[in-house]
Amino acid sequence: MSILIDRTKRVCVQGITGREGQARTSLMLDYGTNVVAGVTPGRGGGEVLGIPVFHTVSDAIKSVGAIDVSVLFVPAKMVREAAIEAIDAGVKLVVLVADRVPVWDAMAIAERAAEKGAEFLGPNTLGVLSPGRAVAGMLGGRAESARQWFKPPLPTGVGIVSRSGGMSSSTGYYLGQEGVRISTIVHVGGDAVLGIRIPEAALRFEADAQTEAIVVFGEIGSSQEEELAELIRSKRVTKPVIAYIGGKAAKEGTRFSHAGAIIEGGRGTHAGKVLALREAGATVVEAFGDLASATVEVLKRLGGKSLMTQAEREAVWTTAVTRIAPNNVAVRGHNIADLMGNTSFGAAVYLILTGALPDERVGRLMDAILVASIDHGATPPSCLAARTVASTGASLGASVAAGIMSINRHHGGAIEDCARQLAALIARASSERITIDAAANATMMEFKARGERFSGFGHRIHTKDPRTPRLFELAALAGINGAHIAAARALEAAFAATGKPLPINVDGAIGAILADVGLDPALFNGIFMIARTPGLVAHVVEEQTREKPMRRIDPVKHAYDGPINA
Ligand SMILES: CC(C)(COP(=O)(O)OP(=O)(O)OC[C@H]1O[C@@H](n2cnc3c(N)ncnc32)[C@H](O)[C@@H]1OP(=O)(O)O)[C@@H](O)C(=O)NCCC(=O)NCCS
Repeated sequence: MSILIDRTKRVCVQGITGREGQARTSLMLDYGTNVVAGVTPGRGGGEVLGIPVFHTVSDAIKSVGAIDVSVLFVPAKMVREAAIEAIDAGVKLVVLVADRVPVWDAMAIAERAAEKGAEFLGPNTLGVLSPGRAVAGMLGGRAESARQWFKPPLPTGVGIVSRSGGMSSSTGYYLGQEGVRISTIVHVGGDAVLGIRIPEAALRFEADAQTEAIVVFGEIGSSQEEELAELIRSKRVTKPVIAYIGGKAAKEGTRFSHAGAIIEGGRGTHAGKVLALREAGATVVEAFGDLASATVEVLKRLGGKSLMTQAEREAVWTTAVTRIAPNNVAVRGHNIADLMGNTSFGAAVYLILTGALPDERVGRLMDAILVASIDHGATPPSCLAARTVASTGASLGASVAAGIMSINRHHGGAIEDCARQLAALIARASSERITIDAAANATMMEFKARGERFSGFGHRIHTKDPRTPRLFELAALAGINGAHIAAARALEAAFAATGKPLPINVDGAIGAILADVGLDPALFNGIFMIARTPGLVAHVVEEQTREKPMRRIDPVKHAYDGPINA
């Protein structure tokens, strides 16, 4: 868990076509944020980085479905209108990045958010980042740096809440250097009127199972730190709080960097905040440089669950596939003992390749795809290669590897090629504003004229591949019936209309289905290798136990002698 943002949250970017909107969307996508739509009035219909752009937030919701979080890279003067538009459309969290938003506008947004049960972060915020999951806004800078600096909670971490943008990242960075894991970093913004503030963020962290302690970068002005102290005193916040308060040297009446950081009438002073928090039981450090070490001390007393191991801290490179710790194996964050017995092999393959578990129906579809490709008798090049090498007395590993090495563009590779060719067909229909049938027909004629084959159609043995209709049936049951499957069907109809039907074969079906599931075609050859390996092992073992070494293997003249219709 994390607070406010994670990989499942569907994110919209308002102002996506602007300078910062485009640049930050690219970084959010790099970090794994699920950006599903962009909005700029007057610019609907286009795309930014493959994300569809709409005129309004409600248009976006109508087209792409629900939106959980909207991030506004909209200049200050337009923030009120854009935020209220998102809230009225049903978005429950809006992140207001712009600085210099008029106070009256922030108050109007607060009023509408309260009416509609929505929340907002900012204005003047860098946003929120949940390490290893997602970022909404501009926290953390480049995705690669954010990955290196902020380590996700395994199993727990600290929640960071800060009133300073720059110090949000710095606090996360210095904690990371001391081996502290982080559940979420929230920059509440520096303005006088804010949405989510330190007390609200602390309550969220209190409720979050993966947050073990709360680290606060506070500053003079406002009553946020005093309210947090009150929450600690009243036991509504029971997790340890470690805080630093900036602005010790500021005199009454001076504004210290942020609009909200001002001491008026003796309220919001550094000394008052430090005292309130200390009396409530929080750890307050005098120097920012002591915040990380004080946090480590607190976490050690709690048992060290939120601290990295020594080996993790000494690592010079990282992998996000599987975590091995003493007595614990976690694949893409999922405990292997929990996966065993609960997750099908197909779903586990999907998990390890994509980083997320599929829903149950897609998991079953993955199983069916793996089963469909498990073997295709003795004639495919991979089987002949594996058997030939096995007949030399080579090891099982070398023989199976020889089979795998023969899986390339023309054997197994049709799955990936077909998916890419179908994507080109879909793009053609869209750019030429013609139907998919018309695009399929034109493409087929061009392929024929060039004497080229469209991958994934026709079969050297089957006129009706028994695996194809079954896979499409299972895909439909799993709710997978998207543009690639439609394009494959259109092409099949175009071939049939010529009087020389060329049906979709198993590779074509798998390519279309996996593309509609949303997997990257670069994985498709690998999925075929995973599926075919058991078949190759069976052939190699049979070759070495039944046949003489160095026999001449006839690729065609062989017969099946196993059970019939078992
Ligand atoms: C918000 C901010 C980042 C925008 O800057 P920018 O990207 O350079 O501004 P641009 O003018 O290029 O883009 C704004 C886009 O919003 C769009 N926009 C305006 N009103 C809109 C609305 N109601 N809905 C959606 N988009 C809207 C504009 O049309 C524009 O897109 P376009 O260029 O395609 O026309 C900038 O004004 C700002 O406040 N920067 C400081 C932020 C900061 O540092 N905050 C944290 C401090 S710690």
